Amino acid sequence: MPSYNMIKYEREMGNGITNPLLMKTTDGNYVVKVIGNEHGTRILINEFVCYKLAKILGIPIPDAALINIDQSTLSLNPDLESLGVKTGLHFGSKLVPRGQTYIQGPLLNLVKNKDDIPSIILFDQIIYNNDRVLNPGNLIIDIKEKKLLAIDHSHTFKLGALWNEAELKKIHEEDLCLVKDFHGLNYKLLLKYVNGYNPFNKILQKIHEISQVDINWCFEQIPIEWELKKGDKDALNHFIWYRIENISSFMELLKEQCHEWKGGESFEF
Ligand SMILES: Nc1ncnc2c1ncn2[C@@H]1O[C@H](COP(=O)(O)OP(=O)(O)OP(=O)(O)O)[C@@H](O)[C@H]1O
Ligand SMILES: [Mg+2]
Repeated sequence: MPSYNMIKYEREMGNGITNPLLMKTTDGNYVVKVIGNEHGTRILINEFVCYKLAKILGIPIPDAALINIDQSTLSLNPDLESLGVKTGLHFGSKLVPRGQTYIQGPLLNLVKNKDDIPSIILFDQIIYNNDRVLNPGNLIIDIKEKKLLAIDHSHTFKLGALWNEAELKKIHEEDLCLVKDFHGLNYKLLLKYVNGYNPFNKILQKIHEISQVDINWCFEQIPIEWELKKGDKDALNHFIWYRIENISSFMELLKEQCHEWKGGESFEF
């Protein structure tokens, strides 16, 4: 993942419980989740790992980068200091300049990448993301490109900012299940596009090729200042790998809930 220096702090995005900040960097504008946000660095780790996994699985997502804020830049921005921002590397999602959240049926119907919709749904099951079903701010349509993008992977792995080795082990003991309120707000719209015989083939192809080495790669280059302990890191790595290895269980569960999916013998590996 590239890293860029912050040039100028613009403003708070004004929504979102992690209070993302809009910053101008040497690579243009980024929506940045910062060290010093009230939920801690775990949400940056969640964003980082999910971004890399999204890239491997072909999920449409804005480019991400590590945004560096050094002491002299921070000193020149007292607003940032008063928000509790620390020096170091932060997680940035490249700003979609004409982005529409609160997606609605008619606009969704105009996007060019409707074939990515099943992939986003299956991706959410892998990362145990309960935060895209009802939250209207976690899908964005790039109006210029007519493209649906997945954003906000802060509250993933069921527990969001609160996971650790012990908690992940507990989840591991539970039966696999789909995300909460599966037929809620956004999913209700998305599920219309889970149709035909093999809607999940695009992502299943990627899953077929993925290896443990790829999952290890998702954890490489996590900034030291995010303080991820080895035990927690290994536990999350294992958690993700287990869910990928058991993808056929998710497919069975999805099949029961996706009524437009005509089925077929589509997920034999
Ligand atoms: N890359 C981006 N381009 C344009 N807008 C963005 C981008 N990333 C985030 N936003 C905007 O900022 C809002 C908040 O970002 P995000 O959802 O990542 O933060 P959050 O604090 O985790 O939100 P939540 O309230 O869902 O917990 C989004 O709903 C969206 O409107
Ligand atoms: Mg959000």
